Amino acid sequence: MAEVIVVGSRKAAGALVAEAIERLVAQQPDAVLGLATGDTPLPVYRALAERVRAGLDLSEVRGFALDEYVGLPVSHPESYHSVIEREVVVPLGLTPGSIHVPDGRPLGIETAGERYEDAILASGGVDLQLLGIGTDGHIGFNEPGSSFASLTRVKTLTRQTRDDNARFFDSVDEVPVHSITQGLGTILRARRLVLLAFGAGKAHAVAAALEGPLSASVPASAIQLHPRATVVVDEEAASRLTELEYYRDAFAQKPIWDPVIL
Ligand code: F6R
Repeated sequence: MAEVIVVGSRKAAGALVAEAIERLVAQQPDAVLGLATGDTPLPVYRALAERVRAGLDLSEVRGFALDEYVGLPVSHPESYHSVIEREVVVPLGLTPGSIHVPDGRPLGIETAGERYEDAILASGGVDLQLLGIGTDGHIGFNEPGSSFASLTRVKTLTRQTRDDNARFFDSVDEVPVHSITQGLGTILRARRLVLLAFGAGKAHAVAAALEGPLSASVPASAIQLHPRATVVVDEEAASRLTELEYYRDAFAQKPIWDPVIL
């Protein structure tokens, strides 16, 4: 099952994951990162940006974003093209041509999923995939009911996801109805998964994903199928986990030959 690490703060989570990414890049300078957007991964990007300012070179790193809104102009500040550029590419000193975001333009959308899958395969696959989790249990924009075998494709957002994401727009009506997202099958092909979750609002989804049955109704439960998944949560997001003491204990007793995340 996934290793669960409970941290004291978002900043601590960011530092932990950034440290693992630095170790990955030291072994493999052109490592392929799977990039999530939204609030959750920001502490990781901030911690990495600090390391870059201190001399870490990420210019050879390649990356694939999880998802994009369909029909939102690329130039819109909340398109994931813009968000990835602003929050990730620029502060981390990545090479823009090496960082990919699904093509959400309506023209050619029928083939956009397949093109994205081809690009991921051509890169050799994702080495480390960062994930957040939606309050409805989604990862990427794989909403409840998504097939565990799904690949990159268009998904209709649930009302709950659109309400949750309305904070990035002037109103919920401006949140696009459709997204193009890596599938659960795509995500499961990554060599390592790191799912982060913070705050009480995520506690229910985290418990259902980690300790509930495998179910398309809780898309994040797919991570139970992955052999190398790590879940980094704060106390609030961990608060509904039944086996919390066991996870704490397992982490406290972690053998020295078993490095964190990598
Ligand atoms: C974003 C993504 C989503 C978010 C999730 C949580 O690329 O794929 O699954 O990770 O909606 O969003 P935040 O982090 O804003 O709470």
